This record gives sequence, structure tokens and C-alpha cells, in this order.
Amino acid sequence: MTSRSFRKAMFVFTGLLALSACGHSSVQQRDGRMNDARTDVPPGLADGEMTLPDDYRSWPVYLAAIDKPDSGQIRDIYLNPIGDSVSAGEPFPHGSISVMEIWKVKVGEDGKPLSDAEGRLLRDDLSLVFVMAKSRGAGDKVAPELRNGDWVYSGFAADGKTPAGPPASACRTCHLKASGTDWMFRVDEYLANRSSVRR
Ligand code: HEC
Repeated sequence: MTSRSFRKAMFVFTGLLALSACGHSSVQQRDGRMNDARTDVPPGLADGEMTLPDDYRSWPVYLAAIDKPDSGQIRDIYLNPIGDSVSAGEPFPHGSISVMEIWKVKVGEDGKPLSDAEGRLLRDDLSLVFVMAKSRGAGDKVAPELRNGDWVYSGFAADGKTPAGPPASACRTCHLKASGTDWMFRVDEYLANRSSVRR
């Protein structure tokens, strides 16, 4: 074999290796989806079944840096592109996913939250990650008094995997207050701001 044809053969071989590696990982990803991070929302999900999509921090921002002095938290909310396509006054489409990060804040010796010169709370570690996903037909499985349309709820610890936070019945009960805006809070603020934060 000449050195040229050897190089050519190696090139083809490496290409094949790269291809097979790609194929392998995408198969693994597809197979692992049930227990792994989801980016889609299958129909008929139950609470706790929606996992945290890996790429949610690259999504449009719904609202960022919401200070919660009473509970000592800062919250950042993301919305996937399907959700971000919503029009004012319309329900969020099936396939919408909202992720809310709940951050701890720095506290002083008296245990009270500290703030900066502008009065904003100071971010500490990530505490919880909450997910709402709109799954077609999901509401049919929920008791009418706790039904939030087709939204399902999951809560995770900071690792994004370990289930944590209040039980889904508590998520549902509180989100019932936002039933007039598709069980999503602060929709007007988001609609007013989204053109400035849309990527
Ligand atoms: C005591 C009331 C309450 C409970 C309980 C609650 N939420 Fe919420 N949630 C809110 C409010 C209010 C907001 C709006 C953001 C803000 O001002 O903190 C919100 C926002 C969200 C958002 C962002 C989308 C939106 O509606 O603005 C997600 C996602 C979310 N909650 C998921 C959950 C999950 C999952 C649970 C249960 C594990 C849960 N929530 C429990 C009150 C609640």
C-alpha cells in the first residue's frame, strides 16, 4: 500500500469510526429517554414522570432573577421554544415545558437575607428545580378538583435527577390560583418582556 492510499484508507476508517460512534450514542440516548433527560413531552404523562431536559438553560427566558425575600429564594424560569410560541390569550401548546430554578440566598448572622446596594437578594447555591410539562391527555388521569388542564409536575434536587420538593398535589393546589392563565403564573409579565429576552 502506498503511503497515500494508506492515508486514504485511514481517513475512511476514522470516518467510519466517528459515524458508528455517533450512531451508537444517539441510539443510547433514544433508549435511555424513559429514565434520562427528556426534551419531548410524550402524551399521557403522570406527575413525576417528566424528567429535566439537559439543555433547558439554552431556552428562552420566561422570567429571571425573581427575588422572594419572604422565602429566602431567587427564582429563574425558562420556557422551551414550543411554549415560547404561545400567543397572548391562547393556552400554551401541548409539548410546552417550563423549568423553574429555585436558588438559596446568602443570609446574615441574624438569618435574614442579605441584599446588594440596589436591594437585590444575593444568590447562593441552587436548591430545587421544578418542571411543568403539557402532556396531551394527562389531565384525564387527574381528579377533577386537582386538574390543571394537561400540565404535569415534577420537582428535583439541585442535581436535576433526585426527586425533591413538595408533593405534586401541592403544586396543583397552588397553581389552581393561576387557572385563568392556563395554570401558569405571571404570563402577562412574560408576554410584555419576551421580545427583549428572546434569543
Ligand atoms: C404555594 C404555591 C406554589 C406551590 C406549592 C408551587 N408553585 Fe410553582 N409557582 C408558584 C408561583 C407564585 C409561581 C410564579 C413565580 C414566582 O413568582 O415565584 C410559580 C411558578 C412555577 C413555574 C414557572 C411557570 C409559572 O407558572 O410561572 C413552574 C415550572 C412551577 N411553578 C412548578 C412547580 C412545581 C413542579 C411545583 C411542585 C413541586 C410547584 N410549582 C409548587 C406557586 C407555587
